[in-house]
Amino acid sequence: MDTEMIERIKTLLREVEELKVANADEWEALRIRYLSRKGEISQLMDDFRNVAAGQKREVGQHLNQLKEKAQEKINELKNSFADKPNGGEEAIDLTRTAYPVRLGTRHPLSVVRKEICDIFGRLGFSIAEGPEIEDDWHVFSSLNFADDHPARDMQDTFFIDHHPDIILRTHTSSVQTRVMEKQQPPIRIICPGRVYRNEAISYRAHCFFHQVEALYVDKDVSFADLKQALLFFSKELFGPDTQIRLRPSYFPFTEPSAEMDISCKLCGGRGCPFCKHTGWVEILGCGMVHPHVLDNCGIDSGLYSGYAVGMGIERITNLKYQVTDLRLFSENDMRFLRQFESAN
Ligand code: DAH
Repeated sequence: MDTEMIERIKTLLREVEELKVANADEWEALRIRYLSRKGEISQLMDDFRNVAAGQKREVGQHLNQLKEKAQEKINELKNSFADKPNGGEEAIDLTRTAYPVRLGTRHPLSVVRKEICDIFGRLGFSIAEGPEIEDDWHVFSSLNFADDHPARDMQDTFFIDHHPDIILRTHTSSVQTRVMEKQQPPIRIICPGRVYRNEAISYRAHCFFHQVEALYVDKDVSFADLKQALLFFSKELFGPDTQIRLRPSYFPFTEPSAEMDISCKLCGGRGCPFCKHTGWVEILGCGMVHPHVLDNCGIDSGLYSGYAVGMGIERITNLKYQVTDLRLFSENDMRFLRQFESAN
């Protein structure tokens, strides 16, 4: 009986040495067959109790050898298929569709800029652009700023290398001049862009921000045309219940000039802290293009008239989305930016 047991052990040992597996399932089946509590080796262990005392030593040695070999082999087999990139079940399938990657979304200022440009686009305006590094003529002189106008001061304007004539544009009105110098009426343009001012950075001011300028020049353009365009624009952007109010104002490049308020979106015009309890919020400046500006750009002010509008994109975005700190727009904090995913 004991030689028979030794034979069983030797047969199993040969079998174990020859073992091969292709994947995790096959490996698990082998592990159960040889090493589990009810496996071949455990059964031999049980039978070992019946071995005659005098032979226990010899049989025991064979049995231990088998056990060690089986454990070693089965461990080795595990590594053999787990390591291979294309063998076994856990291999990478290169044909599989990739996991969805979270895409970026448009910046809130870009969303609002596009909306503004789209609305004016529906009124027949086309986009015009100009340089951010400008000269005094396009930013100030052509637009009828007096030589001693405070906006020309170093306090407000960034000069390049202290050169008196090369500056960062402080408003997109400079694009008006660039277009009018090259093109005769009818002109109907909208100019989105970044502008720079020498301001201390805080929650309500930044050294750069964004504006959109609109300009319409043709024969017989009147203040009524301006008002009608502004009403259409405001209702499109803020909803059909929106009301507008024009207040007289002053800009060197328009005459007459006005500032436009819309009824407060937060309280519906009843008055709240956002609108300082007035029911109105200012959103833009506008007016009839000053005849000097037309003449400066080579357009006959006796023949043509026009209106101009300028607005800050940050201000309108704040109003639409109640962003209370301007700095958030340029900090690239994903937690802030992702809030606008649905607006895209
Ligand atoms: N350029 C002005 C600014 O930066 C905004 C502005 C006001 C533009 C009135 C206009 C306008 O075209 O008519 O503050």
